[in-house]
Amino acid sequence: MYHLECIRCGARYPRDEIIYTCPKCDGLLDVVYDYSQIKLTRDDLKGPLSVWKYKALLPVAGEPVTLKEGGTPVYNIKNIGKDIGMKDAHVKHEGMNPSGSFKDRGMTVGVSKALELGMKSVACASTGNTSASLAVYGARAGIPVIVLLPQGKVALGKVAQALMHGSKVISIKGNFDDALRLVREMCIEYGIYLLNSINPYRLEGQKTIGFEIVDYFNWEVPDRIILPVGNAGNITAIYKGLNEMKKLGIIDRIPKMTAIQAEGSAPIVKAIKTGAKDIVPEAHPETVATAIRIGDPVNAVKALNAIRTSGGTAETVTDDEILAAQKLLAVKEGIGVEPASAASVAGLIKLRKMGVIASDERVVCVTTGHLLKDPETVIKMCDKPLEVDATKEAIKKVMGW
Ligand code: F0G
Repeated sequence: MYHLECIRCGARYPRDEIIYTCPKCDGLLDVVYDYSQIKLTRDDLKGPLSVWKYKALLPVAGEPVTLKEGGTPVYNIKNIGKDIGMKDAHVKHEGMNPSGSFKDRGMTVGVSKALELGMKSVACASTGNTSASLAVYGARAGIPVIVLLPQGKVALGKVAQALMHGSKVISIKGNFDDALRLVREMCIEYGIYLLNSINPYRLEGQKTIGFEIVDYFNWEVPDRIILPVGNAGNITAIYKGLNEMKKLGIIDRIPKMTAIQAEGSAPIVKAIKTGAKDIVPEAHPETVATAIRIGDPVNAVKALNAIRTSGGTAETVTDDEILAAQKLLAVKEGIGVEPASAASVAGLIKLRKMGVIASDERVVCVTTGHLLKDPETVIKMCDKPLEVDATKEAIKKVMGW
């Protein structure tokens, strides 16, 4: 049993009402369960990690639209750890999901919910990954998908996915925040189901990242989870999920939720640093990490609460720091992530150097998307392949043998 509840005014709404914010006060909505009715223990949660392992805490009744999402690997980043004096620093590589990003966790739940609610089409605005994921799950479900993208600011792999899986791809002359405003209006006007992270049902799927992290460590809660933050849905979702597990007695504490944003696109970090109640939107966000190039994150209020209540923090990293961390992960650990994802590790390195993160902390950085999402940035950063004639001599020459 569950319903929708406004986080600002507390108004409750039936679970099948098609709303994305509170009709009374426009506050953000949460899916709230009757926790006294959920009998879930550690013993019920044996077996391999996956999104649908945690069905008891997900708002879908029937068979979900699934491509076997979740169950992503956790790696101890020993080599980077050694450089920064840490033994217990890990990466949870969400790039290993079916479409190559963590968005699949939200979309398996969100698209399943769309069908359950009888919706006939789905849409989103996106910096790329949300659109790729919605395209994939819409195709799986057999319903039409419309995606709005900021022109010229979406990484190649993501556009390719949205196109190939058969979505209607609309490139707008504006940024992500403009696209989100437009798609929200369009969805309400035309009865299309909105699957951005303002949709509380989509966030329910994303909270399973947190479930999997504590499950992986046998319910020993890490000290800190570090995330790249854009529209601020993911940090919010993970925090909510872990609170639910605490309510159910499955875990005993909450990790410090730590948000990393790119310097040119950092409204959440600024609000945390100034102690402001809400963010000041940035009109012209800019960063090489296009996935998190967002100036007006819709879930800001939820995210500020998650960071503050968990005793976490927020920090910026420069584009150079992001690209350096991306390269370090690739070269020193064999882990291929896209720039936005590397922001989490860049943040870990920076916060460790600042002394904010202690050497003995257990930290999990969520790397949200795969290296192949953004091949153009990679090609720009790396040396060109050595072009030679097809002879042994030519190879010997370039190798200096
Ligand atoms: N990392 C990657 C790779 C992303 O694609 C996103 C968001 C984030 C981090 C930030 O997550 O928005 O929940 O704070 N991408 C969205 C999109 C906005 O449209 O694909 P968030």
